[in-house]
Amino acid sequence: MTRTTDSLIPKLQEYVAANATAPDEILRDLADETEKLFPDDNFMQIAPEQGAFMTLLVQISGAERIVEIGSFTGYSALCMARGLRPGGSLLACDISEEWTSVAQRYWKRAGLDDTITLKLGPALDTLRALPMEPQFDLAFIDAEKEDYVEYWEELVPRIRPGGLLLADNTLHHGQVVDPEENATNVQGIRAFNARVHEDDRVEHVLIPIGDGVNLARKK
Ligand SMILES: C[S@@+](CC[C@H](N)C(=O)[O-])C[C@H]1O[C@@H](n2cnc3c(N)ncnc32)[C@H](O)[C@@H]1O
Repeated sequence: MTRTTDSLIPKLQEYVAANATAPDEILRDLADETEKLFPDDNFMQIAPEQGAFMTLLVQISGAERIVEIGSFTGYSALCMARGLRPGGSLLACDISEEWTSVAQRYWKRAGLDDTITLKLGPALDTLRALPMEPQFDLAFIDAEKEDYVEYWEELVPRIRPGGLLLADNTLHHGQVVDPEENATNVQGIRAFNARVHEDDRVEHVLIPIGDGVNLARKK
């Protein structure tokens, strides 16, 4: 890749973001408050254009039951819940009371506090305690990168045939292709992408939106 192309990438990213459905006032306030309260952690929030993409995916797929692993201050859950059909539900799993207390305020403000149920506790415990039925229509994985493969193994049997699984940060700032980069979270993402790729229960594609979304459909 040339230097010129490198320097164009941030401009292209801005262009992509500017040409997606814009976040409304609630999402903008949530992003602003997250940045103000948690300046060292707000990078964890999904990108606004990714939020628009996820709302669309929920709408297009007609999902009624969603599970999210890793909610932080609630941005991605809010985007997905907005795409749900009437009567739909989203189970949000996280370990942080502090971060999810912000999420709960914004879910309430968006009129989604009856739609989204928060489950505090390690997500693997929460998933393992869930019955196999009724199955979910869509799962979003966005917690510990080292645990992505384990989340996957618990989630795939709990998703209905034709249902979707999405995982965030699957390009990990481009580090997945950097042979010098061997941090455990990057290794976790590489192992996850490899597992999804060889898993013949699904068909999938790695989408370069935000920090990379691996989107799979259960056969
Ligand atoms: C990348 S952030 C999620 C960002 C969120 N999806 C958004 O759009 O703002 C990761 C979240 O995973 C949560 N987390 C970390 N370890 C976890 C675990 N073992 N079980 C459940 N949640 C966990 C963290 O508390 C954090 O809120």
